[in-house]
Parts: sequence; C-alpha cells; structure tokens
Amino acid sequence: MSLVEDTRELQVSLSGLTIDELSVEEARPLVDRLRSVVRQHDHQYYVLDRPVISDAEYDRLYRRLQEFEEAFPELRTPDSPTQRVGGDPIDDFEKHEHPEPLLSLSNAFDRKELREWYERCQRGLNDQFGAVEPAIVAELKIDGVAMALTYDHGQLEVAATRGNGVVGEDVTHNIRTVHRIPLRIPVRGDNGRQPPDRIEVRGEVFMRKSEFEAFNERLVEKGDEPFANPRNAAAGTLRQLDPSVVAQRPLSFFAFAVGPVSDGTPDTHREVLQLLDGMGFPLEEHTERFENFNALVDYCEGWAERRDSLDYEVDGVVVKIDRHEYREELGAIADAPRWAVAYKFPAREATTTLTDIVVNVGRTGAVNPEAVLEPVQIGGVTVSQATLHNEDYIVDRDIRIGDTVVVKRAGDVIPQVVRTVPEARTGDEEPWSFPENCPACGTSLVRLPDVADHVCPNSECPAQFRRLVEHFVQRDAMDIEGLGEKLSHRLVDLGLIKTLADIYRIEKQHLLDLDGFAEKSAQNLVAAIDASKDRSLSRLLFALGIQHVGKTVAETIVRHIRSIHALTEATVEDLNGIEGIGPTIAESIVDWFQVPENQDLVADLESEGVNVKRKAHEAPADAAADLPLSGCTVVITGSLPDRTRSDASDALEQAGANVTSSVSGNTDLLVVGANPGSKLQDAEEEGTRILEIESPDVFDRLLQEGIPS
Ligand code: IVH
Repeated sequence: MSLVEDTRELQVSLSGLTIDELSVEEARPLVDRLRSVVRQHDHQYYVLDRPVISDAEYDRLYRRLQEFEEAFPELRTPDSPTQRVGGDPIDDFEKHEHPEPLLSLSNAFDRKELREWYERCQRGLNDQFGAVEPAIVAELKIDGVAMALTYDHGQLEVAATRGNGVVGEDVTHNIRTVHRIPLRIPVRGDNGRQPPDRIEVRGEVFMRKSEFEAFNERLVEKGDEPFANPRNAAAGTLRQLDPSVVAQRPLSFFAFAVGPVSDGTPDTHREVLQLLDGMGFPLEEHTERFENFNALVDYCEGWAERRDSLDYEVDGVVVKIDRHEYREELGAIADAPRWAVAYKFPAREATTTLTDIVVNVGRTGAVNPEAVLEPVQIGGVTVSQATLHNEDYIVDRDIRIGDTVVVKRAGDVIPQVVRTVPEARTGDEEPWSFPENCPACGTSLVRLPDVADHVCPNSECPAQFRRLVEHFVQRDAMDIEGLGEKLSHRLVDLGLIKTLADIYRIEKQHLLDLDGFAEKSAQNLVAAIDASKDRSLSRLLFALGIQHVGKTVAETIVRHIRSIHALTEATVEDLNGIEGIGPTIAESIVDWFQVPENQDLVADLESEGVNVKRKAHEAPADAAADLPLSGCTVVITGSLPDRTRSDASDALEQAGANVTSSVSGNTDLLVVGANPGSKLQDAEEEGTRILEIESPDVFDRLLQEGIPS
C-alpha cells in the first residue's frame, strides 16, 4: 500500500474515535501506526523534499499523535516524531569517546597534488594487487560540523561531535531536534535490510545558506548578534545547552560514511552510501564515482567554479578510494587516511595593500568606510574594494593607509578586510580618522549612540537618493533591465529622476538626448521600465528601501496584506503580530508610511500604473487562502435580512473574512443592511466597495463566491 493510501486508511480509522473511551490495549496499535505514518511523512518532507500530503493534513495527524501520547503516556516512545521539540536543558556536555577515531584529511591544492595523491595510492597497492587503477568516489566537502550518530537496534543512542577525533562532545539532546536525522532506522529499510544491531553513521551538520540568512535576520531583529557564516551558526547552535532553542533553528544534515557496523561494513563506499540511503539518511546529491582520473579533475575544478550555485557552503571535494579492501591496504598516517584526500578550493583570502579609505553613503543614510585596494585575485575574482564596516572596526584592528591587509571573500558576500599584517609595516603607514562631514552633501555626520555607525542626517542628501534608485531598479527589486548603477546615477545627476516615480516618466526622447543612446537602446529601456510596472507587491515593498525590509521580510508581510494601502493603515501591533516580524521592523515600516512624502510617492507610483496589489502567487498557500473571502477585510452596517449581526459576522469569518468594526483604507467591503449607520458615509468617502444586502440570497452568494467583481 502506498503511503498516501495508508494515511487515508488511518484517517478513516481515527475519525470519530474518542480517545478517552479507549483502553491502552486498544490505543496501542493505533498509536504505533500513527507514529509510523507521521515518521514516513517526515522522511518525505525533510529527507526527500517530496511531501505527499498537505501541511494541514500533516499537522492534523501530528496533533492526533500528540493527543494520544498525552492520554497514554505509557505509549510514548523516545523515538516518536513528537519528541523533537527539545527536552530539558542540560548543565554541561558529556564527553563521548569514539569507538573508532574520526580521522581528518590531508589536502591537495591543485590537480598536480591530486595526481600525486592518486599515484601514491597506486604505488601503495602495487605489492598486494599489482598495477591497478582504483575507482574513486568524489563528494562535495560540506563546510559544517562533523557528527557521529550511534544507533542501537535502530534507535538513535548517541550523537557526538568530532572533538579531537578521539573524544567528542555528546550533543544527543540537540541532534534529536534535527528533522533530517532519523530518530530510528525503520525495521525494514527501502533496500529490504534489517538495520544492524549497532551502527555508527557519520556526516555533517550544517545550515543552508538561505535558511542561515533568514535566521540571522531574526537574530538581528531580536537585538542579538548575527553569526558570521553558516558554519559558525551550526557550531554555535550545537553548543546550546537548551534543546528547545536548537529546535527553532534550521539545522540540516548529510551522511557520508559509517563508523563501526555490527554486521560488517559493505565492500565499497558506493554500497555504504546505498545502505545509508536505504536507512533514510539524507545524502548530498552530487556524489560521483570515477573510473578514470581525468574525469575526477574536471569534477573538482568544475565545482570550484560552481560552488556558489549551491544552497550550502562547500570548501572542497573529498576524494575517496571506493573499495574498502584497497583502503585497508593503504591504511593511515598520523590522523589522516592515505585512501582519501580533500581537494581544497582556491582560497578566498588574499593579501594586498590598502591604498586609501573612502566613505560611502548608503540609501538609508548610513555612512560606511570602504578600503581601496591594490587589485588582487581572490578565488577567480579581482577585488579592488572591501568593506571596513565602521569606525570601531578600523580602530580596533589599527588599520592604516598603506598597510598590507588580508582580504576575504565568501560566496556572494561583499569582500572584507579581515586584518592587517603588522610585520609588513615600513613606518610610512598613516592612521585614518572618520570625516566630520558627508562627502556628498557636506552635512555634519552623526554617530549613533550605542552603535559604531555614522549617518548623514540630511534626508535630501543626493548620495542617499542615488543609492535608493540603484536599489529600486536592481534585479531582486523592480528588475529594470538596462538601468544599472551607472545609468541610474547619471539620470539622477541630470535631474531626470528626482523621485522614484520619475523613473516611470522617462520618455524615449529624454534618453535620445543623452550620449550613448540610439533609437533601439532607448526604446528597449523604456519598454523595460514599462514592464517593471507589473512586478509583484513584495518586490515593490522591498524596492522602496525601507530600513530592515529585506526580501524575506517583504515576502512575509505581503502574505498578510492585499495591497500597499493596508500598510498606510497598519499599526506597530498589527505588523508585530505577524510571525517573523518583530518590533524593530514593524516600527520602521509604520514610520516610513507616516512620512507624507512617502505617502505621496506610493500614490504617485500607483497613478503611473505600478502594481500595488498582491498577486495570486504571493498569497499564503495554506487552505485558508482558498476560502472565498480569504484576506478580505469586511465591515457590516445596518441589519441584515434573516440573520443577527453576530451570526452574519461568524459566517463571514468562516468564509475567510476578517471582520472589523470600522471602515478604513484597509477595508475591502462594506456590507450594508437596512438602516445603515455612519459607516456608509465613511465608506463612500474612502471609496470602499459597498454591497447592499437586499435579500438573503445576496449575502449567501457573498459567502460562497466572495466579493462580486
Ligand atoms: S570523509 C577519513 N566526506 O571534512 C575521512 N568528510 O577533515 C574523513 N567533511 O570535519 C571524513 N564533507 O566532517 C568526509 N563528504 C565528506 C565530507 C567530510 C565534509 C568534513 C568532515 C571532517 C572534515 C575532514
């Protein structure tokens, strides 16, 4: 039976059951089945990334399991999917001695060193096996935290970090909250095997880049320090004493090896991976097996180029001899096996000279120092500028003009100056001090209390506006092709763009008057500007450049509002009530929409034809969104035929509406009965849709079909 069929059958047997009326013995088989079904859905969702039932259905099953376990605590098992929420905090980490040491890897930095490693392996095998070309398996080297998971009779017993390779730390309490790590190995895996009595599974715990960014945003929002990178975030999370904190954080896992296995290890690495897969462990999907060395080099060098396309940080390729017989023959030196090597991607750090420090005015007025560098290659990219963050960063590290500095680049992150190399000083280096005035408009800069940042307080500072335009047109925002940084700055400087809405008033002739534009290019740009009017509401919200409103925040908010107008009315409490939106963001948005110039801007953009309404794909995907009045704010006035007011209000709410007591710009519909009150006048003034309920039919149709178009 398929999982879906199995689930349906279970749902049928559960429906109409009153838990209180069951005996333990009657409940036991149901709980066992429920647990197994929920566990299989967890696997579909977290490991295979292929859920087969809706989130709402899953939630119902999960809650049912919780109810059963509450009613019959004796039926609760430690490997139940409900036991992932995090148990009690611990006082300290226990030590865990690894039954077999977790080795480290020696490195190869280029194809020559990779070849030397392979030839060493061949020589090492020569005595025993003759001239062989051992097959190799290549895996991406995940930049996270190594983990050893011991399962006893299929149950997760201990999860430990690598530590010094011999003794690690027991982090079982935290690992139990990671959905991608099975709490138990199913009795019969997909491959038909019984799980071994004891098996140690090894792999890497890490945080996906996308989840890391959203997680960091939440930390900042709460006033906490963000983590520098996903690796630190994963390591810091595993060191938490309170597992309920860990349960809130997005940890992921890939398995890549086994330690001791009670009924013996398979003959090849490839079979080890099959075994792990069959037992329900997530594997990194780009692993490849090579019979020949040249294809391996292409793989390694290809991934060095493409590593940023992955949603997790990888710092190299782990190359392993596939056959275990060969591995045994090769053995290990010190703490690294001879049968494996880490091909390390080119460093993302380089040393160069800092020739100057300039300050940059951002779109919100933040003034940040930036290093001008002697151009240097870092991981295939030429870097000539790097951020220095703020005044304290420079002072703390005693960074001077003329210094030799270490510059680092990670993923899409802006390059940064990490430290100076004081040994390289000649004595000619000059300390730098923060300018007193804004380089763009001359206004005295203000250093914010408690933080190290300077701002230009002039809201009309031309540099800020240039940055805002640049932000507005960028790919993640309104995505106006052909209107890049340089051109947008130029149009601002020429006075063609004085407010963001002016972008939509640019005509072909304006462009033809500029150097570098021909008929075709001018026409293309005007068309691109025009096309950007139809962008989604979340893009527009992000494009406005409101402080703290990044892409994720904008998307979150748009799931709760139907048009930009709702934000003009929103209070800090309204926004703060949205999950994922804290007080800082809420205040920032409310403040922005209270500024009259900003209100004018929104109206101006709308009258230029820019879309200000939520698009269907931005609405929440849950079942509630499918109701006829989902997302609609409705007000009632007067008495309705055949229904009391509270009855009508309940019915509207059941159809998905949000029923409020007074008309505002946020109101989508005023329902008018006999003898309406002053709300009718309010609605007429606001231009709100009005629906007169002349008969019960009209009201019923509203409930069934939503607001008539
Ligand atoms: S194999 C002896 N495979 O890299 C073999 N390690 O120095 C040792 N790592 O911290 C491990 N991805 O956690 C192996 N696909 C992979 C890996 C991997 C990441 C980490 C491992 C350890 C370090 C090895």
